[in-house]
Amino acid sequence: MTSTEAIQVTGLSKTYNQTVKAVDQIAFSVHPGEAFGFLGPNGAGKTTTVAMLTGLLRPTAGTAIVDGVDVFANPTLVKKKIGLVFQESTADSDLSGRENLELAAALFDVPRSETRARVDGLLERMQIGDAADRLTKTYSGGMRRRLELAVGIIHSPAVLFLDEPTLGLDPQGRAGFWRYVQELRKEHGMTVFLTTHYLDEADGICDRLAIIDHGHIVATGTPSELKDRVGGDVVTIRPAQPDPKVETVLAAVPGVLSVTPQDGAYRVKCPKGDALIPVLVEACYKAGFGLSGVSLKRPSLDEVFLEFTGREFREDEGASATDRAVRIGQVAQAFGRGRR
Ligand SMILES: Nc1ncnc2c1ncn2[C@@H]1O[C@H](COP(=O)(O)OP(=O)(O)OP(=O)(O)O)[C@@H](O)[C@H]1O
Ligand SMILES: [Mg+2]
Repeated sequence: MTSTEAIQVTGLSKTYNQTVKAVDQIAFSVHPGEAFGFLGPNGAGKTTTVAMLTGLLRPTAGTAIVDGVDVFANPTLVKKKIGLVFQESTADSDLSGRENLELAAALFDVPRSETRARVDGLLERMQIGDAADRLTKTYSGGMRRRLELAVGIIHSPAVLFLDEPTLGLDPQGRAGFWRYVQELRKEHGMTVFLTTHYLDEADGICDRLAIIDHGHIVATGTPSELKDRVGGDVVTIRPAQPDPKVETVLAAVPGVLSVTPQDGAYRVKCPKGDALIPVLVEACYKAGFGLSGVSLKRPSLDEVFLEFTGREFREDEGASATDRAVRIGQVAQAFGRGRR
């Protein structure tokens, strides 16, 4: 089977111990160069999906083609071609940052003649050059994450998988991490498949998203399409002088779904707020009402999640303990070395 997509998944399923349906018949494709996000609560099946797509875990059913390779027919080849960054550190803490990178370069068959330049380049790039020869166990959380990213891309993979790579980082650390990822995408046209608990992160980085819940994909689309499906924007119009007639004027504008008074202003719900603002403003002025403020609020992915799953998205929950144990075992196995 061939595919021009960076990732092509059909009917992918995983049942653990013949009882736990962790991933159930999912299908999606990721275009080359795209950043595709998998968003879902604890236990939704995100890590299981990443593990299957990266050749670490055999599926119960289905197919996946990553960068032209049938993952389940050639798991070893896929592991060499792709990059992978887990939340849990896979770097060896008793090696320096430079040694970790050199080890990864050797594991991924980077030509020896190129290793030095690539390792130096990435150390600089990720701003760990000054700490390059220090043991990794002395690194801060943010430095470790940047090192993991460097390790994940040492062999210039066409597709990079990131499973909650910023969990536990402060907002500044998260922003920094994603800035590097975005730069790499721009320079190398790299495809990125990521999972995250952070909705704002998914919103800012992903070209398209899939929302996964109980092993099923419940929605797919661009962040803005998903928000549109939730029912649109809220434009807040504040008249210079309060007057109940303003509500009638606003409600009569075509495209307005509802108008709700709030603290001397009016919340106008509509599908495309940015396009409707000039029309709303003009209608008010024509009716003789001056305005003292106008603002636009698009729905957040929190609302999208609630809409599609019927549940609140808990941002503060991290990876579960089982999840971590499974993951660490898989990584250690994949790289043929233990963890300290
Ligand atoms: N090795 C395993 N054996 C049995 N059940 C497992 C195993 N690994 C995962 N599961 C179960 O499969 C389901 C999906 O787990 P998975 O780790 O893929 O979820 P996740 O979306 O990554 O969650 P998290 O947000 O906690 O990382 C969960 O119910 C989990 O308990
Ligand atoms: Mg997980």
